[in-house]
Amino acid sequence: MTDFLWGASTSPHQVEGNNLNSDWWAQEQAFPQLFERSGDALDSYHRYAEDMKLLADAGLNAYRFGIEWARIEPVEGHISRAELAHYRRMIDAALEAGLTPVVTIQHFTVPAWFKRAGGWLAPEAIDRFRSFVAASTEILADVPYIITINEPNVLALMSLREPMMRAIEDGTFDQNAAAADHSEALARVVPPLAIGDRLIEAHAAAREILRASVSGKVGWSVAGQAFQSTPGNEDRFAEIKYVWEDKFLEASREDDFIGVQAYTSQLIDAVGIVPHVEDPANTLNGWAYRPDALGIAVRNAADVTGGIPALITENGIATADDERRIAYTSEALAHLAEAMAEGIDVRGYLHWSALDNYEWGDWESTFGLIAVDRTTFARHPKPSLGWLGRVARRGVPTSESLAAAR
Ligand code: BGC
Repeated sequence: MTDFLWGASTSPHQVEGNNLNSDWWAQEQAFPQLFERSGDALDSYHRYAEDMKLLADAGLNAYRFGIEWARIEPVEGHISRAELAHYRRMIDAALEAGLTPVVTIQHFTVPAWFKRAGGWLAPEAIDRFRSFVAASTEILADVPYIITINEPNVLALMSLREPMMRAIEDGTFDQNAAAADHSEALARVVPPLAIGDRLIEAHAAAREILRASVSGKVGWSVAGQAFQSTPGNEDRFAEIKYVWEDKFLEASREDDFIGVQAYTSQLIDAVGIVPHVEDPANTLNGWAYRPDALGIAVRNAADVTGGIPALITENGIATADDERRIAYTSEALAHLAEAMAEGIDVRGYLHWSALDNYEWGDWESTFGLIAVDRTTFARHPKPSLGWLGRVARRGVPTSESLAAAR
């Protein structure tokens, strides 16, 4: 048996279905021109035990999933005992299946009431989050790894879509103008500072509450974009890397671990982040195929956090070709093994994602180790699940264990 965690990740809104009281559900109904609907998603709200069994049977020993604030507190101040009990059953089911539960408290979605009341920038936001975290501690007491907030940097970036939604509501949205400069402009931006600062505050508040009442390790997961500088633009590179990810990594220096999430890499030029160039090798969601991103991101996380233990909480590829998923992941793991051989303390690897889930407005970008028929909800494990299980059975990733698992 190995202590190294080998598993896969999901988030509640992306797999559960009918997350009716969340901000995302509301915006999917209001802006069908921007978002495909999550609907029943994969019905994992009811089928989580089946999902977990597939992972455990394949040879994995960990599962990352989240608890959904919009279900636990559908109305401000009203805590649903039944929903807390539901998530406790999930934790118990994971433990019984032999999977170490890694639980995320907040993964992009918030209750619709929280959003309507001003979201993360409202003066009461931190207190509201604090009450939810306090309510959740009773089911998290023995969870070994707790992630307070998923990708605060990407969550802050998501808020940049708000003006577009407001313009659609007022009828002032110019679809052609937006389409012309939208992707270029979005690709070059950095997370808005005000929200980023709020999320850092929220994380510190949650950590304080959790440390006082639970025994598990507490951290958060930060998106690492594996930035690289173009020649002569090292200052701009350092500046962008700081606001995009390092300030969030610095905020975890006091944490028990850092959740590292990496998919791709981007260059930084004199203007800023260089958008991904169109290339047939790009993934289904348009990102450059860069399995080396994981090595770059984990080294940067170790460097900026002062070497706190790292847990890879997400890494994967949107592709319809499962052989390509295996090739990408195998290469990413080889880069991880190299970083570990250099002395970086890595406690586990959780692949994104367990299932072909709702990719925030899009059902086409399939990241899963398991395909799902969205009419019958039948699960169909892909060869990549069996492959990852074989890698897992060989313990910590090394070039030898990766070669042997093929
Ligand atoms: C998020 C996931 C998302 C994945 C792929 C991360 O940004 O945490 O929710 O599905 O990357 O885009």
